[in-house]
Parts: sequence; C-alpha cells; structure tokens
Amino acid sequence: MTKAEIISGTETAKEVRAAVAGGVAALKEAKNVTPGLAVVLVGADPASEVYVKNKARQTVEVGMNSYEHRLDETVSEVTLLTLIDQLNRDETVHGILVQLPLPAHIDDHKVINAILPEKDVDGFHAINAGRLATGQSALVACTPVGCVILAKKAKSDLSGLDAVVIGRSNIVGKPVAQLLLQENCTVTIAHSRSKNLPDIVRRADLVVAAAGQKEMVKGDWIKPGAIVIDVGIHRITKENGKSGLVGDVAFDEAAAIAGAITPVPGGVGPMTIACLLRNTLLACYRANGLADPVI
Ligand code: GUN
Repeated sequence: MTKAEIISGTETAKEVRAAVAGGVAALKEAKNVTPGLAVVLVGADPASEVYVKNKARQTVEVGMNSYEHRLDETVSEVTLLTLIDQLNRDETVHGILVQLPLPAHIDDHKVINAILPEKDVDGFHAINAGRLATGQSALVACTPVGCVILAKKAKSDLSGLDAVVIGRSNIVGKPVAQLLLQENCTVTIAHSRSKNLPDIVRRADLVVAAAGQKEMVKGDWIKPGAIVIDVGIHRITKENGKSGLVGDVAFDEAAAIAGAITPVPGGVGPMTIACLLRNTLLACYRANGLADPVI
C-alpha cells in the first residue's frame, strides 16, 4: 500500500522546461541571441542514441539551437579533441556535452577537461567540480541538481536533515552530496564497501539512492516519513513477459513507509535533460554578461 507522496519528475521537469523556454525568449528579446547546445556522440550505443535524440528534441522545444556531432566508434582521441576545440571557439555554441560512455581507447577525463568550463553544461569538468566543492558559482551536474529540486518539492527547507547518499560517482554521488551540504544537510556518503548499509540508511531523513543496483534499498531500510530520491534505472522483464523499468529502491515496500518518494520511471530521469537545458541557458546568460535568470 502506497502511503508516501509521489514526487513527479515528469511534472517538475515540465515546469523547469517552461521556465527555461521563458528565459530563452527573454534572451532573444534582450540580446537577439539564441542559446546553442552541441552534443557529441561517439559510436552507436542504443541507450546513448535514445538520450541524444531526446536531448535534441527537447532543446528545440524550448527554443534553443541543437547541434549534433556523430563520430565513428573508432575515432581517434585527437580527432575528438579537435572537434571540442572547434566547439569551444564557436560563438553560437554555449553548451557542449560529450555523451558518456566513450569507447575504451579514449580517456574520458582528458576529453571532459578539454571542454571550456563555461561551456561544460554537464558540470563534469574538474574546474566545475572544484567550484561546486568550494561554494563558487559553477555549472553543476544535471542529475544531482534534479535530485535536489525534487527533494525540495517534498520539503522546501532541507536544513538540518540527515541525508544519506548511496553511491560515490563523480556524476551523481559526490556532486549531490555537495549540493545537500549547501542545503545544510548532515551528509553521509555510503557506497559498496560501507558496513551496515541498512543501518546507515535507517538514520536518514533523506535518501538519495544512486548505487546502480536494482531494487537494492528495501522497505525496512527506510525511516518512517523519510524522503526517498531514486536515481537508479534498470530494465526488467515483468511476470507478464513485458519489459519495464525499476530503480535502486524496492518501490512498493519503500512507498509504504516513506513520507515522499520518486517513482521509476517518471522521477529523476526526466529531470536530467530539463536541468541540462537549464545549464545551457545559464551558460548563455553568463556568456552575454547577464546575471543568472531566476529559474
Ligand atoms: N550518459 C548517461 N547520462 C549522461 C549524462 O548525464 N551526461 C553525459 N555526458 N553522458 C551521459
């Protein structure tokens, strides 16, 4: 039985996109500038193809220009770095995203750190990660920003909450922990080597599950009334033979105990692209010497 409030990422992402579209229109009016987002896809990974198609569609829907660069799986690192250099110099491009994962022969860090930090709309560049960690203005990774927006839908002031982040990736775990610190949470980062993970999670008023393990977080790990943000996304075959998606949290069990929870699908997932568009708008405002829009 679901007791928890269901926090809709689908609805919240719509609100973010509408705000971004408003910011794009205002910028066109004020400066006659259209934000441009360049997406680079290396190879033909089917999941990446789907992300890139969705990104391109939503970029155009909010009134931005979308540029797609597709490179063969066998492309050399030098050729990829040369493309990034061109995009860095291109004044019509305000945001650059290189779709991950990259083929094994290419060094992810080298490629990400070749993007100008002010165009790094993924927020993965070491400068942006360092700026976030030191409380300076940065472009912040999209999924973590989406997680915090959703948590604040359930409780607008997170100050003083015990937050447990499960997962320590550069893309989600570490930046979401930094953002929750900025929200004045007491933050624990747990991971695959943590001892007594269920007990750690039981202390949490706010759980961000980004472990990459299907339905790992059980209902009896959840403190009654806690806010649960599920970053996981795993394809499963259901009993009726149809395919479906589940997260890192055993949803039905957790929803019977939590105060608020994000579903999978329709939770954190839709927020990632919405926050990418938001970052592209921020990058474009900053490139034009304007104060950040309120979005
Ligand atoms: N691959 C899966 N998610 C992402 C993302 O948010 N950014 C990039 N660059 N690649 C991804």
